[in-house]
Amino acid sequence: MNQNDDFELNGFPRVRLRRLRRTPAIRDLLQETRLSVKDLVCPIFVQEGIDEPKEIELMPGIFRIPLKELTESIQELYDLGVKTFLIFGIPRSKNNKATGAYRRDGIVQKALKTLRQNFGEKIVTITDVCLCQYTSHGHCGIIKNKVVNNDESLKVLEKIATSHAEVGADFVAPSAMMDGQVKNIRAALDKNDFNQVGIIGYSAKLASNLYTPFRDASHSMPDFGDRKSYQMPFYNANEALNEIKMDINEGADIIMIKPALPYLDLIYKTRQTTLLPVCAYSVSGEYSIVKAAALEGWVNEGEIIIEFTTCIKRAGADFIISYHTKKIAEILNNS
Ligand code: PBG
Ligand code: ZN
Repeated sequence: MNQNDDFELNGFPRVRLRRLRRTPAIRDLLQETRLSVKDLVCPIFVQEGIDEPKEIELMPGIFRIPLKELTESIQELYDLGVKTFLIFGIPRSKNNKATGAYRRDGIVQKALKTLRQNFGEKIVTITDVCLCQYTSHGHCGIIKNKVVNNDESLKVLEKIATSHAEVGADFVAPSAMMDGQVKNIRAALDKNDFNQVGIIGYSAKLASNLYTPFRDASHSMPDFGDRKSYQMPFYNANEALNEIKMDINEGADIIMIKPALPYLDLIYKTRQTTLLPVCAYSVSGEYSIVKAAALEGWVNEGEIIIEFTTCIKRAGADFIISYHTKKIAEILNNS
């Protein structure tokens, strides 16, 4: 038999992959990647000093909420099956040392206390550990001699992470891209008896234009320069893998790639090179681009977010942080 005989019978294909696609039930049976509500993490913005939810201008459908509405918002998502939340705080005041980020009565600390009281261990809480929402200049670290000083910033990151652990964070996720942040935070947590609090490394956090809506939402646009001296250049894949390797050596429990959609290659490569859980963060700009097109009627929002998010999972993400979480959960629950 020559090779053609394997595939052909009387000149027609013998192997017909279309058999596998013939009916919806067959396609269901053979679906390789299944998106579940359990794969999703919902980001939450809690803002100090507001009385009612404020829609984020560049992210229609996403709100900054006051603390008093937190429980209700989380309950609504919980009822849809969403159990993991990434908490961001927007403080009333900022200063050049970011002290608001580790105040005992800071906005994130209060939010976590509330969640712990009302939901106990029914939900998983992740906190973003960074300075940028809390610094008057909007950078992710402490400025010294006009540059973001790595090691001064590490000390503050340690304090922030510890303050989140004190109020019951399950995971802290340092996103400042300072060298050594995972190692230093691990040491600080362990020293303070929080060896059970995990670290999600924002390991490969690329300097992306897709963060713009977030910076608007969280009032963290740097007022001079940009973040390119600490966030990674988007054109480097080896460097991303090196960041990941170093975070693993420093003690990260989970590895994150961010953004997600244009970086599926990095998600895939990371999945191939580590046995740790891999998380992908589909960021604000990924949300806004789809939302804008959907509002224009140019794409089917529901179908496109299921497609995009399933593809992020197919590339190798074990779970996905997404602003589309609520809508995806509604769709999955009805299908
Ligand atoms: C804080 C932080 C940012 C994001 C997550 N944590 C902003 C930034 O680095 O500029 C971006 C998230 C998003 O765009 O959804 N450092
Ligand atoms: Zn930051």
